Amino acid sequence: MLASSSSTAISLHPLANYNASATPSLNPSSLSFSSSYSYLSPLSFRLHSSKTHLRITPKKGLRVSCSTNEPLKVMISGAPASGKGTQCELIVQKFGLVHISTGDLLRAEVSSGTEIGNKAKEFMNSGRLVPDEIVTAMVTVRLSRQDAKEKGWLLDGYPRSFAQAQSLEELNIRPDIYIVLDVPDEILIDRCVGRRLDPVTGKIYHLKNFPPESEEIKARLVTRADDTEEKVKSRLEIYKQNAAAISSTYSSITNKIDGNRPKEIIFKDIDSLLSQLLKDKTAKSMKPVLQTENCLDQASSNEEKWRGIPTRLNNIPHSREIRNYFYDDVLQATQRAVNDGRTRLKVEINIPELNPEMDVYRIGTLMELVRVIALSFADDGKRVKVCVQGSMGEGALAGMPLQLAGTRKILEFMDWGNYGAMGTFIKIGSIGAKEVDEEDDMFILVAPQNAVGNCIIDDLRAMTDAAGKRPVILINPRLKDLPGSSGIMQTMGRDKRLEYAASFESCYFFRLLYYAGTQYPIMGAIRMTYPYDYELYKRVDEPSGKEKYVSLSTFKERPTIDEINDAFLGKPRNKDKKASGIWGFLSGVF
Ligand code: AP5
Repeated sequence: MLASSSSTAISLHPLANYNASATPSLNPSSLSFSSSYSYLSPLSFRLHSSKTHLRITPKKGLRVSCSTNEPLKVMISGAPASGKGTQCELIVQKFGLVHISTGDLLRAEVSSGTEIGNKAKEFMNSGRLVPDEIVTAMVTVRLSRQDAKEKGWLLDGYPRSFAQAQSLEELNIRPDIYIVLDVPDEILIDRCVGRRLDPVTGKIYHLKNFPPESEEIKARLVTRADDTEEKVKSRLEIYKQNAAAISSTYSSITNKIDGNRPKEIIFKDIDSLLSQLLKDKTAKSMKPVLQTENCLDQASSNEEKWRGIPTRLNNIPHSREIRNYFYDDVLQATQRAVNDGRTRLKVEINIPELNPEMDVYRIGTLMELVRVIALSFADDGKRVKVCVQGSMGEGALAGMPLQLAGTRKILEFMDWGNYGAMGTFIKIGSIGAKEVDEEDDMFILVAPQNAVGNCIIDDLRAMTDAAGKRPVILINPRLKDLPGSSGIMQTMGRDKRLEYAASFESCYFFRLLYYAGTQYPIMGAIRMTYPYDYELYKRVDEPSGKEKYVSLSTFKERPTIDEINDAFLGKPRNKDKKASGIWGFLSGVF
């Protein structure tokens, strides 16, 4: 029923049907400041974007159209004057990619005096970023043109903000590599102030570093309006404010390159990276496309480099690959458990983006996870009820847990596919016996937890009693008996409640390990997916800023702190030892 929504966004791309050749450039008159591109309205972004995260295992026999022999897709980033434009000239010469520079596109609009240009001008001249709506529309339209699809693209100067990076993610536009040119600040200022452009050839010169070849060229060189020292400093500041958030989106495909060397040497590094990528792509395209192969499985060769579990888990927000890895991991574990007839299941996933102890729930990631699981079971013909606890108690205690406020509404507004799943195979409800209908096949409970002064367990118990043998899956429950608003523990029936909470069997567990009292750096991780053992990993730094997770040991039961300590210290099992010393991990881990 829902399987066809599982393919990558290639066929779902909102611009896929956009006739690029008929519209070679933007029509400025169609643009209003609040984005009047009807095909790129915020609504359509959301509408289409929500599919990009759906990962439903396609039914056998379904052909997923994965394009073979894909051209290179490259992003280049770096501070102002880090040499992006200079390297792009060389990359285009060698690899024939379509160079898309937002700076150049905007400058062209400014010099043609278009409406976009007039709006962009004041931002550019003052060294500020042009509003996202304008730039994103320009870039996505340009990327959708035939030449970029056929020859591949080289995106220069975009994304420049987290929102821009997310726009591309949502459209499933993702580069193969993210190159960052790294140059010290003082050099950047000198480069900008000395930069000159040839308006005839578009070539970039520098008065000292790359002087023009002839007097004739020299005479016609122009200086960019934003190349004064003061404006460069402000551009640099803006770049720094945004850099971390953008690079977190591309952390798994980032290659930082020392840009403070002669341009030919820098290009040598870039050349070898791109040549290798091209080789890998060609080798991949030689493989026959399997009938049931999922494009997302191929999307990231980085997954292979993760060797077990994803790296860079401290970078928040997590990249789409990382999120997909975990959605898939949880999905497979819950499917195996349900298929084995297990009915009381618990998923505990504590990647930083879902860790309620560091922050409130990162609700978007939690919702995506729930959607992937629910849709996948629905795809197997099960009627799934997704439940969020509602308000509890009365008066001052009427509220629900802070982390869950608004969650039900978000679930209702989310895109559940165009195949009629919502309302039929998927329903949204709350927690309690009266929510259990005869036709429901299973229940997914979103982060059930004890609010201050209220205990969810009685409702939960009534619900599971009503559910009988039907599976109930708790996603990130917090069922510890917390103190009430008065600071008093709910002592009445406490033992029974805790016993009930413990009756749910773990079908997925993931937690990062840190030194006691810290949340950085990550020391390792524990992972368990039903029906397999607990796996203990150690995080190891590798040269050039990379990292990997090395498997240390496996355990039938969740390992104790002592067992973890011993494994990290390389000691044999079952040695008597106190849970203390340097390896006393994050308190409350277990
Ligand atoms: P944009 O044109 O993209 O400017 P930028 O990112 O600040 O980068 P530059 O073009 O200044 O430098 P570059 O890294 O290309 O360096 P280059 O090769 O020229 O954007 C301009 C404006 O447009 C922004 O400020 C913003 O307002 C707007 N904008 C653009 N994109 C946007 C977006 N996505 N969202 C919102 N607004 C956006 O080299 C610099 C100089 O150094 C040259 O003189 C060169 O000859 C020299 N040089 C280069 N390499 C070397 C080397 N290895 N050694 C010595 N000298 C070198």
